[in-house]
Amino acid sequence: MKEFNESVKSIDTYIMFRIKQEAAKLAPVLKNAEREPIALAMGAPTAPPPDFVYNTIKKALEIPQIHTYSSPKGEDWFLEAIAKRMKNRFGVELNPKTEIFSLIGSKEGLANFIRALINPATLEKDKEIILAPDPGYASYAQMIKTNGGLTYGYELSKENNYMPDMYKVWEQMKKDGYNESKVKAVIINYPSNPLGATCTKEYLQHVVDFCKEKQIWLISDAAYCDIYFNEENKPHSVLETEGAKDVAVEFFSFSKPYSMTGFRLGWICGNAHAVGTFGRLKSTIDTGIFKALQKAGAEILNSQEGDEYINRSNKNFKTKQMIIINGLRELGWKIQDEDIPSATFYIWQPIPPRFKTSAEFTDALLKNSGIVVVPGSGFGKNGEGYFRLSAVASDDKLKEVIDRMKKDGFYF
Ligand SMILES: Cc1ncc(COP(=O)(O)O)c(C=O)c1O
Repeated sequence: MKEFNESVKSIDTYIMFRIKQEAAKLAPVLKNAEREPIALAMGAPTAPPPDFVYNTIKKALEIPQIHTYSSPKGEDWFLEAIAKRMKNRFGVELNPKTEIFSLIGSKEGLANFIRALINPATLEKDKEIILAPDPGYASYAQMIKTNGGLTYGYELSKENNYMPDMYKVWEQMKKDGYNESKVKAVIINYPSNPLGATCTKEYLQHVVDFCKEKQIWLISDAAYCDIYFNEENKPHSVLETEGAKDVAVEFFSFSKPYSMTGFRLGWICGNAHAVGTFGRLKSTIDTGIFKALQKAGAEILNSQEGDEYINRSNKNFKTKQMIIINGLRELGWKIQDEDIPSATFYIWQPIPPRFKTSAEFTDALLKNSGIVVVPGSGFGKNGEGYFRLSAVASDDKLKEVIDRMKKDGFYF
């Protein structure tokens, strides 16, 4: 038989699904040993979404013609609700007709945006380049690779305060042998998966100015912008900065703030040319989102229930974060207060030194204790030596994680 696309052939199933499959395989044995798997790998909140969401969907099902195709762009009232949210949350003005487009989750949007941007090439020297954070969301590099592009991972570290100077990144990239004329875009992701790191508005301005100077696109992934623990210092939208609309698009998701991961609902907004070009591609490959889901999304975005839900769940995430942080401290991890993430439900910590690799540690944690976390190496080469834990399970389960680690000898 004829072969499939070379770059698709070379990728593995997405790391989170592989980990899930592995945990499911071991589940019967672990259950017998009173170590039933506790899933802390996926970045998926386990609490149910607001009741308001379900009630809105139920009501929407009675609307005549709700069952018919939507448009890939999204219904007008959905796009208008997004514009209103962007104005209220960030003070950003957007034209819903030209600067916003609906997504079947931000993962789909990012993948198709990258597809729209890159001219696929097979020879390494011809490949177009996208700069992406390392450690960073595991899917970026796979999306770039399967679309015939090349990723240059720029390092996020405590030393650069998780906000690297883009001009230094550029110089390093050239030293590493990458051809600057091939660079198409920079991806940023604040608050960060897997680090939980945030950035300042000044830093966003720096990246916008840099992209304008280099005439490259800025792709901002804001999937976690509403999961934060400091009311006075909420994460910003890149579109709040001067000149952002000249170069930037930003991706948003209903998945994390409203616990709506399975709904597959999000949006892209920003530069009208980029949104429009992406939209033409989207119009050939999908036909939008079920209108009842758009109704739920549109209404929760600007409702008191939605804001209260976010406040409540952020308080809950903070409690969960501290159960794990305090537990790890008792187990010998040295965690300074200033290193506790101020956003996201992720905990990113070094592996104990007796383990040679992050995979060896996460494997041992799964096989001995039924605790499912992700090796840092899954987030790029700079993630080696670390692991990521999503503090999304119930408080009791998180306490059980710490108990099991103590019983099973997982001290730092
Ligand atoms: C950084 C980041 N971006 C995007 C996504 C995709 O989220 P969704 O497709 O559910 O909107 C995720 C999911 O984990 C993520 O961590």
